[in-house]
Amino acid sequence: MAQENEKHQVIFSGIQPTGKLTLGNYIGALRNFKLLEDSYDCIYSIVDMHALTVRQNPTELRRACLSVMSLFLAVGLDPEKSLIYFQSHVSGHAELAWVLNCFTYMGELSRMTQFKDKSAKHADNINAGLFTYPVLMAADILLYQTDLVPIGADQKQHLELARDIAERFNGVYGDVFTVPDAYIPKIGGRVMSLQEPTRKMSKSDPEETYIAMLDEPAVIRRKLRRAVTDSENSVRFDPEGKPGISNLMSILSTLTGMSMDEISAAYDGRGYGVFKDAVADAVIAEFEPIQKRYNEIFADKAYLEQVMTQCAERARRIAGRTLTKVRRKVGMAALKL
Ligand code: AMP
Ligand code: TRP
Repeated sequence: MAQENEKHQVIFSGIQPTGKLTLGNYIGALRNFKLLEDSYDCIYSIVDMHALTVRQNPTELRRACLSVMSLFLAVGLDPEKSLIYFQSHVSGHAELAWVLNCFTYMGELSRMTQFKDKSAKHADNINAGLFTYPVLMAADILLYQTDLVPIGADQKQHLELARDIAERFNGVYGDVFTVPDAYIPKIGGRVMSLQEPTRKMSKSDPEETYIAMLDEPAVIRRKLRRAVTDSENSVRFDPEGKPGISNLMSILSTLTGMSMDEISAAYDGRGYGVFKDAVADAVIAEFEPIQKRYNEIFADKAYLEQVMTQCAERARRIAGRTLTKVRRKVGMAALKL
């Protein structure tokens, strides 16, 4: 992070510690997190409280939290520069969420498509947390006076709500919150499923449709060899007509910096097997060093604890400034400790 007197824009993003992170998460999120690190004050939260909106196995959740933190560090994020911390370690998230709940309407929350989807999927557990999830997300963002929020398209509606809540609150109390903008990274895109290339690659789909960041090289190669393509024999970028090949080309292009024309020139007419192997080589080359670092970091519990503690402390300090302001504005009596 930049020094406090240096004015960098603040980036905040949250990622849920559930399932395995995929090549889509890497290209769409983690890789960009690293690229943004030097130009912004970056705050990345592992949002374990959000994960509780669906039933979790405690042992697995704890492990997943540490695993995601290790992956963040393994892709090269520097905890001296960026904050990487667990949401539950900063109680201000819950506190601000309560206040913001009182500035959010039932009607607004009922319109959230993620709520509708998730309550259909978990019909036996439509809890109040699932309903107010977007308010907690707004609190995450507003707590840090965030300027920009890197998110995928599916989170746009939640971000709009966070903006509405911020503006509503500011309208009553003056400028308390920075009103955040969505950040659509220049390099990012949408990595598609290997089996149904018209759908987004997702960690909640069956195993063979995605590449996990921690898949072994042989598994990565096998999944890519089995990726759905088409019956032509032409490596040409055409997302409509050739979604499978175009997805593989996008992956190769992001990882190697080759343009689509260069990829076509190099692989057209040589058979899809050769092309798929080239994609596998690129993914493996990218992930092998990350996996090696991941294994070291994940095993180093003392280091993880140190990062966790230091980042939580710094996050609490920043959050505290906003909370003090909010408490004063809404009329809570000041308590000088
Ligand atoms: P999720 O896995 O839905 O919790 O998303 C975590 C982050 O990864 C978000 O910033 C998403 O936009 C990003 N992401 C997830 N899947 C993909 C994908 N297939 N392609 C690009 N970005 C993705
Ligand atoms: N809701 C986001 C998702 O499902 C995760 C998230 C929680 C988040 N809080 C956030 C993303 C704040 C950006 C900013 O992917």
